[in-house]
Formats: sequence, structure tokens, C-alpha cells
Amino acid sequence: MSQQPKLLRVLAGEAVTPPPLWIMRQAGRYLPEYRKTRKEAGSFLDLCFTPKLAAEVTLQPIRRFDFDAAILFSDILVIPHALGQSLRFEEGRGPVLGPIGEDLEALDVSGVQEALAPVFETVRRVRRALPPDKALIGFCGAPWTVATYMIAGEGTPDQGPARRMALAEPDRLQRLIDILVDASARYLLAQIEAGADAVKIFDSWAGVLDEAGFERWAVKPVQAIIERVRAVAPDTPIIAFPRGAGGRIGGYAGETGADALAIDWTLPMRLARDLVPEPVALQGNLDPLRVIVGGAPLDSEIDAILAAMEGRAHIFNFGHGITPDAPIAHVAQLVERVRARGPI
Ligand code: CP3
Repeated sequence: MSQQPKLLRVLAGEAVTPPPLWIMRQAGRYLPEYRKTRKEAGSFLDLCFTPKLAAEVTLQPIRRFDFDAAILFSDILVIPHALGQSLRFEEGRGPVLGPIGEDLEALDVSGVQEALAPVFETVRRVRRALPPDKALIGFCGAPWTVATYMIAGEGTPDQGPARRMALAEPDRLQRLIDILVDASARYLLAQIEAGADAVKIFDSWAGVLDEAGFERWAVKPVQAIIERVRAVAPDTPIIAFPRGAGGRIGGYAGETGADALAIDWTLPMRLARDLVPEPVALQGNLDPLRVIVGGAPLDSEIDAILAAMEGRAHIFNFGHGITPDAPIAHVAQLVERVRARGPI
């Protein structure tokens, strides 16, 4: 058997049966072992910046479920934190960030790599501990999604504050996006250098943008990051997640040049398959709610996704992150069902 991680074969365009499997937000509060380590760490950011503990929680879901890939444990908002914006995570509320300043004077790119050194140490530790047939995925947030939190100072239902800035102060938003493109490209390259086998760019709020906004704030910045990463690390595959992009994913794949697209659960996989030409791989796209409910609603959709993706390079995953109320037995049921899929 080849030691090359299955995930990397699929990211190179190969269809593999059963498909490699991992879960967005697989290290998290639904796992008792995560909650224990999280308590030990103190704050969420302390957990992100303590390599020993961050490596431990990265590996926990691999030990429990034998997933095909580990994803670095960190957060997309460590970039604003490293740029000097204040950040804390409040229980039951989520991220809370300080103001960015009128001309963004508070944001300083020069200290980013040093501030994020503990993250790179986590990557090194995880890669050393991970079996050779498992892939390690590094990641960052896409500039648009990170900017939405930086501008609003917190999560909002529709990222209205950032969308309003896009219309009223596009030059200011462009400056912020340019800073984030620069910081994110360096950040991904440092993760690759430390041992990440693939990287993923999370644009969780791409879908709230209109046609012109999508092109300027979602497509262009991700295209720029991919270009910069490829120039230095041409062999490292890149997954992009333009959540909510719907029918726009075909153009998005072509323009950004991503090796794979992660698909949210609102877009049927067979449609995604038609819209995105080979050899681009597709990841997704189970509705996380089906894992809460379990039973037949879970099984039937797993089967439907697998059937829709037969013969196409596919990574089985959720259409968004697993939630803290997901029963572990249902995740085990999912793993068993996906793995039971025999080679065609
Ligand atoms: O297992 C993994 O996927 C790796 C770690 C990871 C986290 N966040 C850990 C986390 C990853 C890849 C992320 C990405 C992330 N963070 C995104 C993009 C993906 C998505 O879900 O859309 C976004 C938008 C964020 C920003 C963020 N981080 C929010 C809005 C919140 C609060 C909501 C929540 O779930 O609590 C976080 C906190 C966070 N990031 C937690 C975890 C495990 C929970 C905090 C805790 O444990 O106390």
C-alpha cells in the first residue's frame, strides 16, 4: 500500500474509493478530550498559542476516528491578532475584536511571522507525530472573511458592516484586503515550510457578496494569495472554501486556480461536479445537522453524496463545521458508512 496520503492523491485529481474523509472543525467542543485540554489551556487563544496543547487537540480526532487528514488547530483570527488588533473569545458570544483605526495605522505586518511562531511550532510537532499516510492541512481565513470580523469587531448575521464599507469606502477596504493578502500568503508559506502538506483558505462569508463584490473581494484576493504561494511552493495543493458561492463556483475555480473547492451543503454535489471542471477536486458537503439527528437522514445523505461523486476526485466532508452538540456515536456511524464504500 502506498504511504502517500489518500488526500494528496485526490488533491492531484485522482478519484479514490472510498474517498478520504475529514471533518471541518473536527477538533472541537463535541469531543470530551478537547474540552479537557481546552480547560487546561485557560483561554481559547492560549490553546492556539501553546504548541504542545494545540498539537494535542489537532491529533485527538485522528486518534478517535482515524480521519485521513488532520487540520492544524488554530483560528482564522490569529492574523488580525498578529497584526496588532486586540482579540478575545467570549464564552457564548464568540470573537470580540478592537477597532482597526481610521487609516488602519494600528495594523503592522512586520511582526506577523514572529507573533505566529507558536503556530509554526505546532505544525512541526503535528507532522512529526502524524502517521505518514495522514495529511496535515494548514489554513488561513480568506481576506474578505477575516476583514468582516475585523470591521464589525464581532460576528454578525450578514456581515453588514463590511459590506457597507465595500460600498462607501472601497479604497479603505482595499488597503485592508491588501494587508491581509500579504500577511496570509506569508502565513501559509511558513506553515508549508513547517510541514503542512496542503492548505485551505476559508472564505466563510463569500456568499453574502453581490456580483461585483464577489469578484473584487472574494475572487481577486484569493487568486493573489494562491499565486504567491504557488510561486514558492508549487507542489502544495490548495483547497478554497467560498461558502455560499452557489453557481459562481465554476468561475471561482477557474479564476483562483485552486486545486480543490470545498462545497457547502446548499449546493448539490452533482451540480458542483458539473460546474467545476476536472482535475479540480471537490470536498463536501454533508449538512452538519444530519449528524445531530443521525439515523436514516444521516445515512441517506451520505449515500447520495457518495453516489453523486463516484468516479470524481472527492474528499468526503461536511458542508460547514461540526457543532458542539454533535453526538460522537453519530460521527462514528458516518465514518463507518463512508469507509464501507468498496472500490467500484
Ligand atoms: O478543527 C479545525 O477545523 C481546526 C481549527 C479551526 C477553528 N476555527 C477552531 C475554533 C478552524 C479551521 C477555524 C476556522 C474559523 N474560525 C472560521 C472559518 C470556518 C468556519 O467555520 O466558517 C471562522 C469564521 C472562524 C472564526 C471563529 N472562531 C468564530 C466565529 C468562533 C466562535 C464560534 C464558535 O464556534 O465558538 C471561533 C472559535 C473557535 N475556533 C472554536 C474552535 C474550536 C470554539 C472556541 C472554543 O473552543 O472555546
